[in-house]
Amino acid sequence: MNITVIGTGYVGLVSGVCYAELGNQVICVDKDPRKIAMLNAGGIPIYEPGLQELAAANREAGKLSFTGDLPSAVRQSDIIIIAVGTPPLPNGEANLAFIDQVALEIAEAMNGYKIIAVKSTVPVGTNERLAKLIRSKSDKVFDSISLPEFLREGSAIGDTLHPDRIIVGAECQRAADTMTELHKPLTEHIVVTDIRSAEMIKYASNAFLATKISFINEIANICEKVGADVTKVAEGMGYDKRIGPSFLKAGIGYGGSCFPKDTSALIQIAGHVDYEFKLLRSVVEVNQGQRFNVIRKLENIFDGKLEGKTVAVWGLAFKPNTDDVRDSPALEIIQHLVDNGVKVKAYDPIAMESFQALFGKEGVEWCHGALETARDADALCLLTEWDEFAKVDLLQLQNVLRQPILIDGRNVFNEEHLLGTDFIYYSVGRPNLNQGVKQQMPVLQF
Ligand code: UDX
Repeated sequence: MNITVIGTGYVGLVSGVCYAELGNQVICVDKDPRKIAMLNAGGIPIYEPGLQELAAANREAGKLSFTGDLPSAVRQSDIIIIAVGTPPLPNGEANLAFIDQVALEIAEAMNGYKIIAVKSTVPVGTNERLAKLIRSKSDKVFDSISLPEFLREGSAIGDTLHPDRIIVGAECQRAADTMTELHKPLTEHIVVTDIRSAEMIKYASNAFLATKISFINEIANICEKVGADVTKVAEGMGYDKRIGPSFLKAGIGYGGSCFPKDTSALIQIAGHVDYEFKLLRSVVEVNQGQRFNVIRKLENIFDGKLEGKTVAVWGLAFKPNTDDVRDSPALEIIQHLVDNGVKVKAYDPIAMESFQALFGKEGVEWCHGALETARDADALCLLTEWDEFAKVDLLQLQNVLRQPILIDGRNVFNEEHLLGTDFIYYSVGRPNLNQGVKQQMPVLQF
C-alpha cells in the first residue's frame, strides 16, 4: 500500500519505518527541515534502539523516504496517517493546533479518495471534527479512521511489529477492511469499532496502566510502614491472571510523554461531560507525591538538614533505553534539591543533553560516568534503572562515596548485592538495610 505518515516524532517515525518493513511504500513528512535533512542523511532525531538500522535498510530498499513536501506526499498515497504531537495545554487539555493545521493541508492537497487515519492521541470527538474540517475545504471523498498507538519508548519497534492488539475506529466498512488488511501481518487481535470508542480505548488503556503504577506505589508506601516487601507482594499479586504481573513495579512514579499528559486529558474530557473522574485524579496526585519520597528519605537520613550536602543522581530519563526526559521525575527531584542548597552531581548514559535542554545547564555538576558522579557525594539517588547502574561494583561505589548512603528509587539492588558492604540502603516499599542488614521491623500495634 502507499502510505504517508505525517510527523516524524516517536510515533510517526517508528510507525513509518515499520509500515515500510512490512513491504509498504512509505513517505514520512515533517515540517521541520532540519529533521528531514537529518533523516535523509541517515540520522535519527530520537534515541530508539534499532530504529536507525531499520530505517536505513528500508531506505536502501526504496520503500521509505522523507520529505517536507506534504502536498506531494498526500497526492502519491492512498492512506494518510497523522502522527503529529498533541502536547498538553496549561490546563491539561490536549493542544490540537498541529492536528488541525495538518488536516487543512491534507484537504488542500487531496487529489482523489484517501483514508485519513489519526494515530496521535486525541480527545473523543476529534476525528469527527477533523473530518468536518476537511470536508469544508475539499470535495474529494475520504474516510476517517482512528488508529490509536500503544508503542512504548525504548521498545517501540518490537511493540509496533508485535502489538498486543490493533484498534481500528471506522464508520465505513471499506476503510475498516483496508486497515485490517494493512495490519493483518502484525496480529490476529484487530478490534474494529466506532471512532469514539477507538479514541476512548487509548485514554482508558493509559489511564488504567497509570492506575496500576500508582496503586502499587501506594502499596509500597504501606509496605515500608508495616515492614513488608513490595516486590514480593507484586509477584504474589501478578500470578493472578486477572491482575497480571506487568506495571506493578514500585518506584518514583511514572513520567514520560504519555501517562502524565493522557491522564490529565482524560480528567478534562470527563469534566467536559460533567463527570468527575475521582479515581484518576487520585492516581495523578499519588504519582506526584511519589517522586518526593526520595527527598523525604534523604531528609530522614540527614535529620532534615540537606543544605550544603552533595547528592549524586544516577539517571535523568523517565525510564531506561530512551533519551526522553519529558515529565521525568528527575526534573522535579533535582530542582527541589538545588532549591534547598544541595550540591547535585548528575549523570545519565543517554539523556544528559535532552535533560540539560529542558532543565538548563546551571546549578548542577554534570558528570560522565557512574562512579565519577558518586565520588565525594554524601548520598547517591538512583532515579532511572539503566543496566549500567546495576552492573556497578558496589564495593568500589562505597569507596568513592563520602558516605555509603544509597537511595534506590527503582529497586535495582537487593539484599544479596549489598551483603558485605557498609551501605545504608533505602529502596521503595522494602525494608531498609544498614551495612547489608535489615533494619528492625516496626512494631505493629493493632
Ligand atoms: C506508555 C504506554 O506504555 C504506551 O502503551 C503508550 O503508547 C505510551 O505511554 P511509555 O511512556 O513509552 O509508554 O513508557 P512505559 O514503559 O509505559 O513507562 C511509563 C512510565 O511508567 C515510566 O516512567 C516508567 O518508569 C513507569 N513505570 C512503568 C513504573 O513506574 N512501574 C511499572 O511497573 C511500569
